[in-house]
Order: sequence, then structure tokens, then C-alpha cells
Amino acid sequence: MGGVFTVEFTAKQRELIRLFKRGELRRINILQGSVSAGKTWISLVLWALWVASRPPEYLYMMCGKSLRTLDRNCLLPLMVLVGERNFTFSLAAKEGRLFGRRIVLEGANDLRSEAKIRGVTLGGAYCDELSLFPRDFFVMLLSRLRVEGARLIATTNPDVPTHWLKTEYLDNDALCDTLLSVFFHIDDNTMLPADYVESLKREYTGVYYDRFIRGDWAVANGAVYKVFSDSPSAYNADKLPAFKYLNIGLDFGGNGSQHALAACGITHGCERLYALKTERIPAADMTPQVLYKRVYDFCEDILKRYGRISELYADSAEQTLIAGLRQELRPLGIAVKNSLKREINDRIRATTMLMAGGRFRLVSAECRSLIDAFRGAVWNDKIIGKEERLDDGTSDIDTLDAFEYSFERYIPQLIRNEN
Ligand SMILES: Nc1ncnc2c1ncn2[C@@H]1O[C@H](COP(=O)(O)OP(=O)(O)O)[C@@H](O)[C@H]1O
Ligand SMILES: [Mg+2]
Repeated sequence: MGGVFTVEFTAKQRELIRLFKRGELRRINILQGSVSAGKTWISLVLWALWVASRPPEYLYMMCGKSLRTLDRNCLLPLMVLVGERNFTFSLAAKEGRLFGRRIVLEGANDLRSEAKIRGVTLGGAYCDELSLFPRDFFVMLLSRLRVEGARLIATTNPDVPTHWLKTEYLDNDALCDTLLSVFFHIDDNTMLPADYVESLKREYTGVYYDRFIRGDWAVANGAVYKVFSDSPSAYNADKLPAFKYLNIGLDFGGNGSQHALAACGITHGCERLYALKTERIPAADMTPQVLYKRVYDFCEDILKRYGRISELYADSAEQTLIAGLRQELRPLGIAVKNSLKREINDRIRATTMLMAGGRFRLVSAECRSLIDAFRGAVWNDKIIGKEERLDDGTSDIDTLDAFEYSFERYIPQLIRNEN
């Protein structure tokens, strides 16, 4: 086996290799801490070494939040690490072979996967980004690890301190003999170029800095866009570049909220995001026709000034309004599509990373409602579990939604390491 890996390890990673060699892995092994700390890399090395040392007739499993993220984060890197001679897999068959052992591949977010592992007996399991799994899937998975010496190897980033993985497993004293937790800090990854680490540290702010850089299980509180409200004028766009995409986001207001529009531009190479114009429209006593006219005027103004609009993304909950709008905007040649509705926290993280990385600008005279919305948004401190942007009518969530709809499809291109 020794000859399989020709790679170098960081000091932190060598600690784990030593634990493995001394037979000190436990039933549950969790590598936690900052992003880019080298957890996934060493976890795959450990997994390969361990699986190769186990009986070939057992069934093994590798799972990620989804099969797609497992593929990107782990399966392809594992193939590079051990070579195609030792690891092959098929996503279609959801199966692979690692040193001759059969490996089942699963996405934990697939509702059927929990039912599917209910009957099986596993010799070992690998979990990528465990905090993103549904708790019930993990509980079921542990109950399937029934053979003598079965082990689970997992990586995770921190989440809220009340997360099930933290309270029921990592902090559970009753598990101290069965659970090994190893903490990795971003500075432990001595393989990364210093300027890359610097830029990561700059881009994560607030609760994201605490979690993804410090590796703490931290709560979100206070201002959501503190990085913005600390110096709003720093985000003024003095000069506008050429845009690859020019999109509009539209959030339909309901009871007590307003309709909101936002136009944004994304530069070539998805380097920068510019908010160009935002507008609120009172929802009370408004007929669809009046709303369509306001949206039409907004779009016409953008067209006049910027020459084109790639697409308009509207709140997908309102299909009837969207159908009407599609008709209405046809003369302008604008494609009206459903908003993607990524998880709100993913949109917030992307926005704050672009802000902190100096890659977000706005036309301040045209984006008053967006500026106010950024300054007013706070985390809901009453929520236990996942953090949540407070949406109780005291701040302008409609404008934030519209703004996010306008660029959320491009988050993977705008942000590294994002799905
Ligand atoms: N021993 C190593 N040798 C070379 N590159 C490494 C090593 N360990 C980690 N890396 C690289 O560092 C980056 C971050 O490592 P990764 O394991 O993905 O971090 P984490 O899972 O903690 O976010 C990756 O690009 C990975 O390929
Ligand atoms: Mg990782």
C-alpha cells in the first residue's frame, strides 16, 4: 500500500496517518474545522487505506449531500489520488470499486436513500460534508454499520452550535470511546499559496468567518450585511464596465409587503456583480395590469440605458402573474423565467463574499431601496437550528429577494467552491 500514494502530507494530515497506522481510528471519525484545511484530501487517503485493509466481501458506502457534490468533492479526487486502476465508479449505477471492494454511492438529500439503506449491512461508510445531511439519514447509516470493526469517516464544516451533529455526537460525552473528532484549521493546510489563503480570509465575514475560517460552531446575530453597513459608500460604482449578463429580479409582494425590482450586471468571466437599479412598488390596491406596466417601464429604462436585458427572473410562487408578465414583456424581447430560489443562506453568503472580496458595486443613486435593505437586514435571534434572516416586515426582504433572484443562477461561477 505504501507505494500507492506519492503525495506529500501536511503536518496535521500526518497526525491522522499515524493514528490510522497505530489502529487508533474509532467507530465514528469526524474531521471538522475551517474550509480548505485539507480535511477532504486526507479523509480520502484514510478511507482508501482503511477500505483496502478490510474484508473484500463487505459492502461499503460513500455519501455526500447529493450525488453531484459527492462526485465533485470526493469521487474525482479519490480517482486522482489512488489511480483509475484502484478506483472506478459509475454515477448512473451509483456504484464504484475501490481496491476490489464494492462501494455504494448515495446522496443523503435524496428522500429515497434513507429507505434504501434501511435493509443493508455495511462494512464502512464515508460522508462528505456531514453537517449538510438530514439527521435521520445519518442515524440510519450508523445503525447499518453492523459488522465487526465497521467504521465511518466523515468531514464537516461547522454550523450553528445547536446543530444535531454537534449536540448529539461531537459534544456527547457518552460517545467518547466511539467517536474521534479531529480539528483542522485553514492554516494547517501548508500546501495552499499564501495569497489564496489571504483572499479566503478576507472574503468570509461575520458568522461565515467564525465558521469557515476559525472553524467555530457559531451563531449568526446582528446585522446580516455588516460588511456593507460598515462603509456603504465604499461600494459605489464610479465607472461601469461591460457586462456579460444583464438580468432583472422581481419579487411579488403579498399581504403587507411590496413588489420589488432589481437590475444587475455581471461582468465577463463572472468576476464582478453590479446592482444597477432597484425599485419598490406598493402592493396594496394594485391590479396585475398596473404592476405589469411598472415592470415594463423599469425594463424599458434599463434597455434604454444598457442596451439589452438577458433575462428576468420572477418569484416562482406566482405562476399566474408570471404568465401575464411574459405576454406583457414580449414586445421588449425579454425572456421571463422562474427564480431559481436557492437557499437564502447560500445567497447571503455569496453576496457578503462578493462584498468583502471587493467584487460587488452598486449605482448608489439608483439603488436607494437596496442600500436601505442591506442596512436593515438582521439575523433572527429567536431561531434555534438554522440561522435565518429576519423576515417580519421590519426590514425590506422583498428588495433583497429581487436582487438575489437577479444573480443567483450565477453563484457557482461568481464564487469558488460553491455548488
Ligand atoms: N497533502 C496535500 N497535497 C496537495 N494538496 C493538498 C493536500 N491537502 C490538501 N490539498 C489541497 O488543498 C485544497 C483544500 O483541501 P481540502 O481537503 O479540499 O480541504 P477541506 O476539505 O478542509 O475544505 C484542495 O485543493 C486540495 O487539493
Ligand atoms: Mg472538504
